Amino acid sequence: MILVALIGVGVGGTVHKVGDSSGWTMMGVDYQAWASSRTFQVGDSLVFEYNNEFHDVTEVTPHDFELCYSSNPLARYQTGSDTVTLTKPGFQHFICGVPGHCDIGQKLHILGFPASLGPVAAPVPGPVRSPSSYMSPSPSPLATSPTNAPQ
Ligand code: CU
Repeated sequence: MILVALIGVGVGGTVHKVGDSSGWTMMGVDYQAWASSRTFQVGDSLVFEYNNEFHDVTEVTPHDFELCYSSNPLARYQTGSDTVTLTKPGFQHFICGVPGHCDIGQKLHILGFPASLGPVAAPVPGPVRSPSSYMSPSPSPLATSPTNAPQ
């Protein structure tokens, strides 16, 4: 029952805890390295764990992401334990909106894949072909080697 409640966010989606045990922090977590080791799909969830006295989660445009500009957010989360479910494929960009934090690395962008493109696709076994017996070409003798009398 507890387990169901924990993983029951979205139907079968994977829950990704941002930064793993470090959570959402400005203290030395490389979030792009964290993201690069994972595959994100529509239906998955990102969980941001942090102290909301010091941080927030601000979803921004790619442009604002590059600039660490948080004043025009697409969404803002401030509970300290925020679950963001991926509802569409494509990039999503998150920064901390507290001044200075994004600049020193508290920023994350992820690429969500469509749910249909599962990373684990079972290979379909094709029909096994028995090698058909074939005739090896018998060497046809090249009979005539002209004898030239060199002069
Ligand atoms: Cu912060």
